[in-house]
Amino acid sequence: MARVAVVTGGIGGLGAAMCKALLAQGRTVVATYYPSQEELAREWRESRQAEGLAIHIYAVDVADFESCAELTAQVEAEVGAVEILVNNAGITRDAVLKRMEKEQWDIVIATNLSSVFNLTRQVFGQMLERKWGRIVNISSMNGQKGQYGQANYAAAKAGIHGFTLSIAAEGARYGVTVNTVSPGYIGTDMVRAMPEDVLNKIIATIPVGRLGTPEDVARAVAFLTAEEAGYITGANLAINGGSYFH
Ligand code: CAA
Repeated sequence: MARVAVVTGGIGGLGAAMCKALLAQGRTVVATYYPSQEELAREWRESRQAEGLAIHIYAVDVADFESCAELTAQVEAEVGAVEILVNNAGITRDAVLKRMEKEQWDIVIATNLSSVFNLTRQVFGQMLERKWGRIVNISSMNGQKGQYGQANYAAAKAGIHGFTLSIAAEGARYGVTVNTVSPGYIGTDMVRAMPEDVLNKIIATIPVGRLGTPEDVARAVAFLTAEEAGYITGANLAINGGSYFH
């Protein structure tokens, strides 16, 4: 039976490409969406169906522990136990620190960092018991280098890799791998929502000379979640067009 892969934020720019890559790898794929995106999610699933791609969709608020518990119970009952988890959902609320409101800090930490605990906590024990699991946490280049106007986002994204390293150690003996993927600037709505002049200045600094594509990132997720990837754990894979080396 095909292994079940859950991609949070699966109907978004990066997430959709990940869902397609996992499906191409023979996985049963579940894309999650934020509860208020019900209609958008339904349309998204229909568009995928029209392309011949069968992807399950489920609503979850990744910032809410109980919502994550409900999601995993429902997916397990209706689709199957979660063996592959891609913690991809994320938001930005950019502002320079002197103007950053507490709400902007709190929501980014809850959505981008606590979410990773909220969901992984639901499935990790079971992965250990089954002696197989793949977890990929989507961080960001900006979590490693920092970014003007992103104290909240960079803090959350840096925190993700600390989480990865810790549970990679806990999972290693049980066939459960845990890795981080750190994209740079990818051509998604999130990046295109930046002020145009700011974005153009950033693109001019990318050594590869272009924004990344969602497929650039999805390929890495497929690679790290493959059956053959059992010896890769605790890694942080940079996909940033040469923008940042460390
Ligand atoms: N370094 C140094 N100075 C900078 C700077 C930078 N990177 N960016 C802006 N500044 C300066 C400006 O030149 C300006 O200086 P002056 O006042 O002397 O003209 C000053 O900071 C204020 O800049 P803004 O007018 O832009 O200030 P603002 O308050 O309107 O906006 C901001 C601030 C919201 C942070 C805005 O600059 C912005 O959106 N920046 C982009 C932040 C960013 O990179 N976000 C990434 C989103 S994509 C993503 O997150 C995906 C991923 O993982 C990579």
